[in-house]
Amino acid sequence: MSIQTELQQTIEDMIDSTRGILAADESSPTIAKRFKSINVESTEENRRAYRSLILSTPDLGKYICGVILFEETLAQKSDDGVPLPEVCIQQGIVPGIKVDKGKIPLANASGEEITQGLDGLAQRLEQYKTQGARFAKWRNVYHISDRTPTHQAVIANSEVLARYAAICQSKGVVPIVEPEVLIDGDHTIERCSEVSQFVFHELYHALQRHHVVLEHTILKPNMMVAGKNFAHKESPERVAEETIKILRRTVPAAVPSINFLSGGQTPEEATANLNAINQAGSQPWELSFSYGRALQQPALKAWQGKAENSDKTQAALFQRARLNSLARTGKYTSDMENN
Ligand code: 13P
Repeated sequence: MSIQTELQQTIEDMIDSTRGILAADESSPTIAKRFKSINVESTEENRRAYRSLILSTPDLGKYICGVILFEETLAQKSDDGVPLPEVCIQQGIVPGIKVDKGKIPLANASGEEITQGLDGLAQRLEQYKTQGARFAKWRNVYHISDRTPTHQAVIANSEVLARYAAICQSKGVVPIVEPEVLIDGDHTIERCSEVSQFVFHELYHALQRHHVVLEHTILKPNMMVAGKNFAHKESPERVAEETIKILRRTVPAAVPSINFLSGGQTPEEATANLNAINQAGSQPWELSFSYGRALQQPALKAWQGKAENSDKTQAALFQRARLNSLARTGKYTSDMENN
């Protein structure tokens, strides 16, 4: 199979009109933080047990088309001894892998960050493919303040994301490109839009410079929301209006799917906002989800590190996956939260 055919096949297996992506790729420090919130120690066995449990949720593939895994998870097995990527495949879910190596301070740019992990990426992708991964994810972050993100940080980060995407495609792996304009701060929704427009615009310039085939990429952006310390929450309709406006200005129609991150929104907010986005009329791309916290938070809370809570944990994940699948077609209503 040629690389182009391989990439196209993965896109077709991951994109349809009802499903979305589960981000279960928390790095070791991040999963430790999540486990701490339920008083569970982050041991390798606890991470395996939790991820085995959620990936084995019966019928998860009805609502989820892809799962982003962390490197460690690729090599772990379910309670029944099945490799976890294989558990995904058996559910009709495409396994993927987070390939960035986290953020470091961007030199000479106070308060700004850049994501590392390009060195050796091509070789790592070859290894991940033998373990079942067919797509990858790389996250960059942009901090909003009165003086950031600077031009310097936006250009440097775009270049890195584009180089990552180009390397992935050269290895037959579909890149999820994740520029996250952070929710931290007290900025307005308009300021989030202004920054996101700049970030997305520069990103697509860089992807073009690096000859990335847009048809074989997925964009994972933030929605346009006010900062989490802003005085009030914008309505889902307002979030949808701003989000679509900025995406239409910056994301070429050749991109097949936009799968939002939740980025600190509550599970209910993330679902309601996605629903409003999908109710706002037809767009050139699919508009779906790639949530981490907004899918997993209720499941983690139900689990508490105890095997006797397995059914409750899976039910909580299944419920959020189902509601987001409805939101993905604009058919969610808030009264469904109680059913
Ligand atoms: P959240 O939905 O929790 O923001 O996570 C998505 C993700 O994969 C961040 O890289």
